[in-house]
Amino acid sequence: MISERLRNALARARSVAALTGAGISAESGVPTFRSKGGIWTKMRPEELASMDGFLRNPELVWEWYGQRKRIMAEVQPNPGHRALAHMEHLFPHFAIITQNIDNLHQRSGSTVVHELHGNIERNYCMECGIRYGNAEVLSMTGIPRCTACGGPIRPDVVWFGEMLPMEEWNAAVRAAESADIFLSIGTSAAVQPAASLPGLAKEAGALLVEINPEPTSITSHADEFLQGPAGTILPELYALAVAARKESQ
Ligand code: OAD
Repeated sequence: MISERLRNALARARSVAALTGAGISAESGVPTFRSKGGIWTKMRPEELASMDGFLRNPELVWEWYGQRKRIMAEVQPNPGHRALAHMEHLFPHFAIITQNIDNLHQRSGSTVVHELHGNIERNYCMECGIRYGNAEVLSMTGIPRCTACGGPIRPDVVWFGEMLPMEEWNAAVRAAESADIFLSIGTSAAVQPAASLPGLAKEAGALLVEINPEPTSITSHADEFLQGPAGTILPELYALAVAARKESQ
């Protein structure tokens, strides 16, 4: 149920930012991390997604990322991703800040996407920094190695204990602080610093709207909690925003 307050905000907003997490891609078939049956309920993040884990057992880490890369190459954007891509054309400023590495926002047509945790379609040499695409890396046998210097190649994703890419983070903070509406979509808000963005946006004056089938640690701070799957709620929100902005013209 969408309130009058949210409808008015959608009619007037000049700047909207959307923080997305694994939940927005759940309906595309990408597993989440912490929900029932999620990746981190079966696997150990420190083994698969940390530099220590990689140095201890690069074969295991590459086997896992190889599998994830193949899964993510097959999945398709869902109506939630597409609704956000449409919203980019509705508001003068619209930015997606994503913790996802699946590239589905870009594949659904969004162009302003700040990737906080990297992108599974990219890889780089840990010695010389040369970049590699997935096709090249996945065709290599064993642990992928740089064809120029022989150094080990790693996926261009942020592992536990690593810094976020600074430019992406600064852009995310700017988008959060200048948002009239901040959407927090499909994230458990359990991982910092991404989880601090909804609070930052609200403190700076944004209407904070959460979209999730389950309450999270930010639900009690949210101005609006739209409970349900992103693939249903976001197209409704987009349709409402279109109607509200037309009426207010
Ligand atoms: P989580 O797995 O922690 O949370 C997923 C959230 O999505 C939960 O709150 C679910 O209730 C919600 N959800 C499930 N289905 C949904 C749907 N159809 N529509 C909307 N929401 C739905 O995933 P993240 O919060 O993204 O980091 O996790 C953050 C980070 O933790 C990830 O980026 C990853 C992980 O460790 C790194 O790998 C660095």
